[in-house]
Amino acid sequence: MEWTTEQRYRRLSDASEDEIKELKKQVDQSQWRQHFHIQPETGLLNDPNGFSYFNGEYHLFYQWFPLGPVHGMKHWYHVKSTDLVHWEQVGLAIEPEMYFESHGAFSGSGLEVGDALYLFYTGNTRDEEWVRKPYQCMAVMNKNGHITKFNEAVIDGSPSGYSEHFRDPKLWKDGEDFFAVIGAQRTNETGTVLLYRSKNLTDWNLVGEIKTDLSSFGYMWECPDYLEIADKGIFIFSPQGIEAQGDLYQNIYQSGYLLGEKLDNKTGEFIHGPFVELDRGFDFYAPQTMLDPDGRRVLVGWMGLPEVEDPSAQDGWSHCLTLPRELTLKGNKMIQRPVKELEKLRRNKCELTDRLAGETKKYDHFTGETYEMIVEFDHLDASQFGLELRTNGEQKTVIAYDSVEKKVIVDRTAAGTPVGEEYGTVRKASLDANKVKFHAFVDVSSIEVFVNDGEEVFTLRIYPQTDSKGIHFFAKGGEVAFQAVKWDY
Ligand code: FRU
Repeated sequence: MEWTTEQRYRRLSDASEDEIKELKKQVDQSQWRQHFHIQPETGLLNDPNGFSYFNGEYHLFYQWFPLGPVHGMKHWYHVKSTDLVHWEQVGLAIEPEMYFESHGAFSGSGLEVGDALYLFYTGNTRDEEWVRKPYQCMAVMNKNGHITKFNEAVIDGSPSGYSEHFRDPKLWKDGEDFFAVIGAQRTNETGTVLLYRSKNLTDWNLVGEIKTDLSSFGYMWECPDYLEIADKGIFIFSPQGIEAQGDLYQNIYQSGYLLGEKLDNKTGEFIHGPFVELDRGFDFYAPQTMLDPDGRRVLVGWMGLPEVEDPSAQDGWSHCLTLPRELTLKGNKMIQRPVKELEKLRRNKCELTDRLAGETKKYDHFTGETYEMIVEFDHLDASQFGLELRTNGEQKTVIAYDSVEKKVIVDRTAAGTPVGEEYGTVRKASLDANKVKFHAFVDVSSIEVFVNDGEEVFTLRIYPQTDSKGIHFFAKGGEVAFQAVKWDY
């Protein structure tokens, strides 16, 4: 179906109850609905927003076009949780209705201040000629969950030297002051991020650009985030316009981080190492982090990408969020692990130990559509070994290690209904290790694989048939020993 501009720019309140009921009915029949991931009731989900801890609960919002599986008038939808695993559907949080958000309430962040949660986001507007003007807007959620918007935007338009692509404020507090990083594009069409400072959350002053070594790295940086772990500063952003380079930057747009010294928030000076992709799979973008009361840094991403349509669109919905991951540092590398609370979902444990020599094998009880599985391989002399997940013989998603290339390989060529094939169907990441551990979370239409305790992560959507439930273990060109443990989810 072709969507007209009018159809895309409707609000939730423009739709009748019957229309929404029909949409829900269509979505409920989809064979690809997830079991333990955050997904939209109807329509399209994109970036996680406002991820925070407030009033004893985790709050998470997401970009949402409710009325169809397309990018259109963006709303914020709200979910909350006490454990990052079981999420309550709170409902619509921000409907765009003010002058500063006529064409959508775009991405932003949340921060607990006093007894309120402040939500700092971008209002997207277009004039009759379809010229964009961004506003940065503030809303306040009280302890009863009631959200009140400021009457006026706190930043109008973009500062001189920068284009209308200016959005996605991420808010934090340091000492007495509030800071925000906002994604931007210079008028010479290169991407950057601007640092702002405020005493009162209403009056914002531009400090300047975050001064990185990447003066020409793509044409736009979306969804910036700045965080600190121990004495390091970490700057996350999603650059657009980076070309593929060997195994790197294979997706349409990227998401990664720079690890360095702490940011100098008076000058924007940031001394850092190379840009590192956060995820090596096919479907990951626009992540956001939060600091929880235990001092953990937790990240959630969008399991999707702009301009890549997924097969569930035919059922009236698109995309989901990733599982929450805890970020830690190991030297100069960021390690990502699934949050521990996910263990609450474990049921029916089964275990297995075996050796394979140039063969593919399946085992009793090792099947399923939704599960967590940890497999530790000790490669004796196999040239390649690994797993075929969600397989019915023909369909399969392959998670493998190639000990000649010294690479992890994730192959969704035969996973099911194709998605994003124009960006390739195989992803690879270098890993030099004798023992290889795959920690996989398999949902109805996605797989997240953490490799060697969070050294690398691969996130991907897959669209297999419901009967593709097999798990195969294989070794080629030699022997491998392994142990596996699996829990149904
Ligand atoms: C990233 C993004 C953001 C923007 C939002 C709109 O996916 O393009 O830059 O705020 O999505 O939904």
